[in-house]
Amino acid sequence: MTNRNLSPIDRLIAGADDALRTIAAPAGRPARANPAALIKETDLTARQKSHAAGLMRVNHAGEIAAQALYKGHATVARDANIEQQMQRAAAEESDHLAWCEQRIQELGEEPSRLSPVWYAGAYAIGAVSGILGDKWSLGFIAETERQVCEHLDSHLDGLPPEDGRSRAIVEQMRDEEAEHGENAMQAGAAELPAPVKSLMRLTAKVMTKAAYWV
Ligand SMILES: [Fe+2]
Ligand SMILES: [Fe+2]
Repeated sequence: MTNRNLSPIDRLIAGADDALRTIAAPAGRPARANPAALIKETDLTARQKSHAAGLMRVNHAGEIAAQALYKGHATVARDANIEQQMQRAAAEESDHLAWCEQRIQELGEEPSRLSPVWYAGAYAIGAVSGILGDKWSLGFIAETERQVCEHLDSHLDGLPPEDGRSRAIVEQMRDEEAEHGENAMQAGAAELPAPVKSLMRLTAKVMTKAAYWV
C-alpha cells in the first residue's frame, strides 16, 4: 500500500480487492520462511492429526480476522503513522495466514468454510473502532492481540507434543502477536471498558468453536 492520498472510492476498491484475495485465493508464498521448515514431520495418529488440523483451522480463521481487522483500521485511521503500522502488522499476519494454510493442508484438511463471515465481521469491527478514534482502535488491537496470545498458549497446551511442525508455527505467531500488542500499547492504545473485553471474548469463543469443525 502506498502513502498516496486515496479517495474514499479508491479505498473501497482496494479494500474489496484485499478481501477477495484473503478469502478466495490461496494465501500464496509467505514473505518469510515457514518456522516449521526445518522440522521433520512425525507420524501422528488419525485422531491427533484431526485435532491438530482443527486447532490450526481455528488459528487460520483468526488470521483471516486479523487481516480484516488491521485493514479495517487502516482504512479509517486518522494518523498516517498508525495507518502504516496497521499495514505492516497486516503484512506479518499474512505470513501467519500462509503458514497456517500450509500446515492445514499438510494435515490433509481445508481452512474454515466460514472465512467470508470471519473477514466481514472483523473488517466491520476494525472500521467502526477506527472511526471512534485511533486510541480506541489501538486499544482494540492491543486487547485482541492479548486474547490471541492466550488462545495460542492454550493451543500449545492442546497440540500433540509430537506435532513439532504445528508447534513451531504457533510459537512464532504467539511471539509476533505479543509484539503487535506491545506496539499498539506504545502507539497510545486506550484501555477498553471491561464489558467490551467480555464481548470480545464471547465473540472469539463462537468463532473458535465454529472454525474447529467447519
Ligand atoms: Fe497473526
Ligand atoms: Fe497480530
